[in-house]
Amino acid sequence: MIDQVIADGLQIPASPTVFLGPDNAKLEIHYGVVLLRSQERIRFRYMLENFDKNWSEAAPSRVAFYTNVPPGRYHFRVVAFQMSNPELVASSSLEIVQAPHFYRTSWFLACVVVLLAACVWGSYQLRVRQIRVRFRAVLSERNRLAREMHDTLIQGCASVSALLEAHSSMEQSNSGYHTDLLDCARTQLRSTLEEAREAVWGLRSISDTSTDIGEMLKKIAEQFIREFGVTVDCSISGEPFALSQSAVHETVMIAREGLYNAIRHAQPSRIELRVNFEPDRCTLKIVDDGSGFDVRVLTQAPERHYGLLGMRERVERVRGRFILDSTIGKGTEITVEIPRRAVASAASEITI
Ligand SMILES: Nc1ncnc2c1ncn2[C@@H]1O[C@H](COP(=O)(O)OP(=O)(O)OP(=O)(O)O)[C@@H](O)[C@H]1O
Ligand SMILES: [Mg+2]
Repeated sequence: MIDQVIADGLQIPASPTVFLGPDNAKLEIHYGVVLLRSQERIRFRYMLENFDKNWSEAAPSRVAFYTNVPPGRYHFRVVAFQMSNPELVASSSLEIVQAPHFYRTSWFLACVVVLLAACVWGSYQLRVRQIRVRFRAVLSERNRLAREMHDTLIQGCASVSALLEAHSSMEQSNSGYHTDLLDCARTQLRSTLEEAREAVWGLRSISDTSTDIGEMLKKIAEQFIREFGVTVDCSISGEPFALSQSAVHETVMIAREGLYNAIRHAQPSRIELRVNFEPDRCTLKIVDDGSGFDVRVLTQAPERHYGLLGMRERVERVRGRFILDSTIGKGTEITVEIPRRAVASAASEITI
């Protein structure tokens, strides 16, 4: 009974299933009935299941028209019956598949969902990474300030306090030594303030600070001899090479904390500061012959002891190696190895 299917003016073979492209807008289905006698009293009705809600009474033209059928699977049915005998029915049907545009297909929607999810996940990861980087930068700056405060302000104040205590416990008659102690305290206070200011604002510039580590360590040794009356031997060996300003600063701060620790905790008779230049590294040793200590106890309870921690962090900053060796009753030896290559690249870091 179904003769022809025409989609957008093009005839399609009326096979049991008709496939229509996504751009198809007009659909015509031609039908009829083959009878040898008169067809005058024959009537038709048809329905596109899934699209039409009710049967449509056919017009005399015997064509079913449809426009803009949405994508999907449909079943077209046409029935013919005689007016005189409506029970006598002949029917025919056709499967119609209207393909969707690619952007309405389930795989495309799935791809979009996956892509959106990937975008959301990617931007979340990016944000997390940015926050981590910022957090690391803040943490690193906070640690730098804490180290600098410890090694400048706190140590400087401790030193001034020791000088003032020595001054007040001294006999009034020794006025020359009294004045010396007060001068030392004044000088120490001034340099502490200056160092603290530079540390807080990161003001140390290349021209301000010498990069001659030997010269700086000798100055520190002299300061300790003057203030604490302890023997500090400073020696430089090997073929010196230029260290970056930040590497010199870190090394000097490590040496100073090592000396303060020896004075405060070990009661040594002698401290040695040894710097040795080798072709690929510079090694600093701080050796005292004082009381020594149990290194294991320290790792179990590091609270409120920031000196050694700061030393380690400073060594890490110049990608060096830190070795602490101490024996009770024999003394302490601290070794800091600074690789030449790492120092050369560290020269481009922010200096403090
Ligand atoms: N040269 C040393 N001789 C003996 N004991 C030492 C020596 N250096 C460190 N110590 C021990 O290690 C501990 C930790 O030293 P660290 O410098 O970390 O902290 P601290 O000197 O106690 O306090 P601060 O935070 O002011 O430096 C000291 O309290 C001391 O017991
Ligand atoms: Mg200390």
